[in-house]
Amino acid sequence: MSNRTPLLAGNWKMYKTTPEAVETAQRLVELVADSAGVDIMIAPVFTALDPVSRVVRNSRVALGAQNLYWEKEGAYTGEISADMLVSAGCQYVIIGHSERRQYFGETDETVNKKISAAITANLIPVFCIGETESERESGNTFSVLDKQVKDGLEGKVVDDLGSLVIAYEPVWAIGTGKTATSDQAQEAHKYIRSLIEGLFGTTLAESVRILYGGSVKPANVSELMAMPDIDGALVGGASLDADSFSKIVKFK
Ligand code: 13P
Repeated sequence: MSNRTPLLAGNWKMYKTTPEAVETAQRLVELVADSAGVDIMIAPVFTALDPVSRVVRNSRVALGAQNLYWEKEGAYTGEISADMLVSAGCQYVIIGHSERRQYFGETDETVNKKISAAITANLIPVFCIGETESERESGNTFSVLDKQVKDGLEGKVVDDLGSLVIAYEPVWAIGTGKTATSDQAQEAHKYIRSLIEGLFGTTLAESVRILYGGSVKPANVSELMAMPDIDGALVGGASLDADSFSKIVKFK
């Protein structure tokens, strides 16, 4: 068993109005009040961050955002900075989700800048990587992960990355009901950990948490979490319902 604390994170994507988000957060806080030994995070939409932060304060649940912009402030209509997220109560921020890469033009270079901005503001970056179905089928999974990790973390030094969380989310498993098998996920996680070891050394490789994301459900979480290099889950659909997400939190 590693001594990495499991992190179960809910990415609520573009779901829930503010009252809906507050209600789900309230229910979740009650359901997981007795869950020791795990870290729990939910990432609602920006407009719900501040109200949800009031609900989760002094609870087992931490707050995350789904994106940020790397500048501190300025004429960047529609964007939001790391300090603004902190002031809304966030401790975590998801960076480089495949939906942002696919629909909003995020690249390894913009992801790199966003990770730096998060670290500077003391936000925990949840750095998302993962291959598409065609990349896997053409045998390029490892080379894709290699490039995403190297370019996303280029210029960082080990002291910057103490809080780093990586989320391996194979694009073909997101929202499709197709989960990677626990062996497929373990193989990718082990490879990602070896990349971190090569770039930043053994201590960081052993402490960095690598989450799996892609159709995680109460029914498959235990099997995934039994793998030695899977340290948690980044959950989309099954995190929207407090009962289902609390079952994922209580995977043991
Ligand atoms: P699903 O759990 O809905 O497949 O989404 C995974 C995901 O993208 C989490 O960030």
